[in-house]
Amino acid sequence: MSSKRSISGNGPEPAPRSGRKAGASALVLVSALAGLAALFIVAACAKKEQPAAEKAQPSAAPAQSAQSATQVPPFADRSKIPASGRQGPPGEAASLTGNAERGQALFAQNCASCHGPQGTDKVQNPGSDDGTVPPLNPIDPELADKDPAVFAANIDRIIQHGSIPDGPAPELFMPDWGDSKALSQQQIADLEAYIMRLNDVNR
Ligand code: HEC
Repeated sequence: MSSKRSISGNGPEPAPRSGRKAGASALVLVSALAGLAALFIVAACAKKEQPAAEKAQPSAAPAQSAQSATQVPPFADRSKIPASGRQGPPGEAASLTGNAERGQALFAQNCASCHGPQGTDKVQNPGSDDGTVPPLNPIDPELADKDPAVFAANIDRIIQHGSIPDGPAPELFMPDWGDSKALSQQQIADLEAYIMRLNDVNR
């Protein structure tokens, strides 16, 4: 008993203990640091991911009010747009000479959301008989013409006055860019020059 006591009461014993303790607390410190570092990394990753996720959402929201999402722009009043095939005559733009380069930029801003970047897309249009927005490249052969004056007049009627597609409840319709004055006559002429160029007709 007494020998045990003498062992436990021995001076050197606590020394290695505290040494071990120091080692242990160093280990704890290191692992705590590692843990912290890991936390930082996780936090950094989470932060990195978050803005991306956030970006995806708000950019989808404002995009809807801007022209990049597939949505009818707010200026277009459905009740004032004629049904398909019932457009009035062509407007002034049809007789102006358009600039296809400027038309290309205008197309990207105002038209690509529904007709695709180069007019080639068939964007879904639920509730319409066609099921999609018509592509403009290639355009419906009934609208195209080798004579640029005729081609421009054909598409001008639709761009000026807009058009509600056939079908029970078309979600998307063609806005009245001219009648609403959303675009100027020169801008419409530029767009027409671009659409004609997409279909290999140059004015
Ligand atoms: C909100 C969607 C939307 C936007 C934006 C839009 N269009 Fe349209 N567009 C349509 C729909 C839908 C039709 C089909 C109308 C119909 O069938 O009566 C159409 C038809 C047309 C047509 C006739 C094509 C055909 O085959 O009947 C032309 C030309 C046209 N758009 C040009 C443009 C131009 C130029 C712009 C940009 C200034 C534009 N569109 C922007 C939805 C859109």
